[in-house]
Amino acid sequence: MRSTLPFNHGWSFEGREPVTLPHTAVELPFSHFDEAVYQRPFTYTKHFTFDPSWQGREISVVFDGVMADARVTLNGHPVAAHPDGYTPFEARLTPHLLLGENELVVMLDGSENPNIPPFGALVDYLTYAGIYRDVWLRVTAPVHIASVKVETPDPLATDKQVVAKVEIADPADRGIPGTLHGEVTDAAGQVVATTEARVTGPTAELFFSGLEGIRLWELDSPALYTLTVTLETAAGKDSQSSRFGFRAARFEPDGFYLNGRKLKLIGLNRHQSFPYAGYALGRAAQERDAEILKRDLGLNMVRTSHYPQSPWFLDRCDELGLLVFEEIPGWQHIGDTDWQRESVENVRRMIRRDWNHPSIVIWGVRINESHDAHEFYAETNRVARELDRTRQTGGVRCYTDSELLEDVYAMNDFILGSEERGGNRPRTALRPRAEVTGISHPVPYLVTEYSGHMFPTKVSDQEQRQIEHVTRHLDVLDAAYGDPEVTGVLGWCAFDYNTHKDFGSGDHICHHGVMDMFREPKFAAFAYSSQRDPAQAIVMKPVTLWANGERNIGGVLPLMVLTNCDEIELRYGDHPPKRLGPDHVRFPHLPHPPVIFDSRHFTEGELGIWGDAWVDGVISGYWNGEKVAEHILLANPVATALSVVPDATQIGASDSLRVVITARDQAGNPLAHFSEPVAISVTGPAHRLGPRLVSLRAGKTGFWLTATGAGEIIVTVESERLGTVSGAVRAV
Ligand code: GAL
Repeated sequence: MRSTLPFNHGWSFEGREPVTLPHTAVELPFSHFDEAVYQRPFTYTKHFTFDPSWQGREISVVFDGVMADARVTLNGHPVAAHPDGYTPFEARLTPHLLLGENELVVMLDGSENPNIPPFGALVDYLTYAGIYRDVWLRVTAPVHIASVKVETPDPLATDKQVVAKVEIADPADRGIPGTLHGEVTDAAGQVVATTEARVTGPTAELFFSGLEGIRLWELDSPALYTLTVTLETAAGKDSQSSRFGFRAARFEPDGFYLNGRKLKLIGLNRHQSFPYAGYALGRAAQERDAEILKRDLGLNMVRTSHYPQSPWFLDRCDELGLLVFEEIPGWQHIGDTDWQRESVENVRRMIRRDWNHPSIVIWGVRINESHDAHEFYAETNRVARELDRTRQTGGVRCYTDSELLEDVYAMNDFILGSEERGGNRPRTALRPRAEVTGISHPVPYLVTEYSGHMFPTKVSDQEQRQIEHVTRHLDVLDAAYGDPEVTGVLGWCAFDYNTHKDFGSGDHICHHGVMDMFREPKFAAFAYSSQRDPAQAIVMKPVTLWANGERNIGGVLPLMVLTNCDEIELRYGDHPPKRLGPDHVRFPHLPHPPVIFDSRHFTEGELGIWGDAWVDGVISGYWNGEKVAEHILLANPVATALSVVPDATQIGASDSLRVVITARDQAGNPLAHFSEPVAISVTGPAHRLGPRLVSLRAGKTGFWLTATGAGEIIVTVESERLGTVSGAVRAV
C-alpha cells in the first residue's frame, strides 16, 4: 500500500546550517527591514539512504510549496522544476535512486522573476523565499492513483450520489488494467457505501448512488466524508483517501445560497504571512488562523488573497465550516503571453489541488484588480469550467464597467472614505451594484475588499482613530446586510502584513488588519465578532481606553460598546447607572448594532470633562434579562502582571506555536500604552522565531516557536518591572 510520510527533517540550508521544514530562507525583523535580503537564490540539500522496502516501488517527493522557481535534482539528475511558489509539485525519484546514499538538492530563487506571476510590477505583499510548506516522501505501487476528484451531483436530493473521477499514473509503463474499489466513510469511520469499476486506461470513474442518511456540510455542522479509492493491478495495490462534503453552493443575482438557504457572506481577506517567519509556519499556525476567523471573529467566509494558501488552512476551513474564495497569484499586473500561460497553469494547479474542499465555493480566475484582458480571462474561465463544473468563477476588480466573463462580478469597493479626496459624492459605504457592473440586468455580485488603505489603523493608534476604523467596518457591514443585491462583503483585511516599500506605513507593514500581525485584535475585530449569535458567544467590547485625556478635548463620549447583548449598563463612579439597547437607528440593518452612550444619556460633568477627577467605570451586558458580562475599566491602571499565553500546550514535533505576551493592569486589562521590553527565551527542542529582546506594542507582543523534535519546551519571558513568567509546552 501507499505510504506518505513527512520529509521535513534533516535538511541542510546553504550547505551548512541544519534546518527543519517548513523553513524561511531569511528570518526578517518585524519591520523596517531590507526587503531585498531574501530576493536571491538559495539551496537546500538532503541526504538519505535507500530503504530496501522501496525496491520495485515508485518513490516521489512531494513539495507542498516552494518560493519560487524551484529546481530539484537527485544525485545530479534534474527531477522537477516548478516556477509557481504557491502550488504543490512532485519530484519523481524512482529512475535516479541509488541503492545506498542519495542526495536531493532543491535550488530556488527568491527574486521577483518578472516571468512568474505575481511578479512583473509592484505587488502589495511579500513573497518570502524558502521551502515554506511541508515536504512528503511518497512510496506507491508502480501503477498508482494520481488524482481523485469527488463530485456530489444534486446534493440536496434525498438519495445522494457520489462520482469520483480518478486519474491513474503508470510512469514505468507497467500496464494499467485492473480494478478500482471505492468506499465512502463518515466522520466516525462507518462505511456508508462501496462500489467497484474496471480500469483499462489512465482515467476511470466510480459511481455511488442511493446513499442514505447523509448529513450536509453546513456552516454550523460541517459534516465531512472520506472517499477511499483502492487500485489493484498486476503491479500491486495503491490507495488514496480524499475528504469531501455534500453541499450546494450558488451565487445568484439575489444572493448566495448554501444548501438552498440564502446566506449573507461576511468575511475578511487573509494573507498567509507571519512576523519573522514570512510564509513558513506549519500546521498549527495555519489551522489557528482559520479558527480565529471562524470562531473568534464569527465570519462565514475568507478570501485567500491573493494566491492558493496552505492545505492545512483549507482543511481547517472544511472542518470548521468557513467558506473560501480562493484565487490565483497576482496583483494588478498582467504580463506577456508566456506569463499569461503560466497564470492559466496556476488556475489549473489551484483547482486540481483543491477541488475536493467543500469550503471552497468560488474560484478567483482573474489577477486581483487587473484590467480587462478578454482572451486571457476567457481562457482562465474556460479552464476553470472544464476542470470543475461544480463551482462558479469570480474575478476581482477595483473599477467599474468591466467585462464580465466570470459567473460572479467581484469588486473591491473602496468608495467609503473616497469623499476625502474631494469630489461631491456624499459619504457612502457601498456603491449600488448596477453602478459598479454597468450591466443593466442583475448579476451575482460580491464585494471582495473595502477599508484597507482607505483607513490604515495601528493597534497603538489614538482611540478616536480606532473608533473611526470600527465605524467604517460597521458601516459597510450595515450596508451589506441592507442591500439584497450584495451577496456579501469581505473586508481588507484580517491581519496586518509585511509589504514592499511602496505600500504600508514606511515600516514595511500595511496596518490594514482588524488584527495585528500577531493576530491580536484591534477594536475593529469586535465589529465582526459582535454580530454573532449571543447563544454562541457573548461579546461586549467598549471602544475606549478609558482615560480622560486620550481623545481630543477629553472624555470618552460618545462611548460605543460593540456587543450582541440586549442591553448594556454603564456605571460611572457613584452616578446612577444608565442602561441602553443597541442603536438600530444609526445601524438599521446590522444583526447586532453597537450600544452608543452619548450626551443624550450622560450630561457633561456626569461623565468626565477636562479638569474633573477621573473614576472607574463598570460596563455590564444583559441578555434575556440576565447579566452575562461585566467589564471593569480602571481610572488608574497600574502595570501589574505579565501574561504569557501559548495557543496550545502540546504540538507536533515540527509544528509551530504562537505565544502571546500581554502587560496587564490590576483588573487584567491590557495596558494600551505600555511599551517596555521583554526578554524571551526558549529552551528544549524548539526554535524561537524573532528576537530575544522585544518592546511591547500597545501592551502586547507575540512570537512563534517551531518544534525541532519531541520533548519539553520551556518558554520564559522576563520583564524588568513585571517579573518573569515561564511555562512548558510539549512537542510530541
Ligand atoms: C487593494 C488590493 C489589496 C491591498 C488593498 C489595500 O487594492 O487588492 O491587495 O493592497 O488594496 O487596501
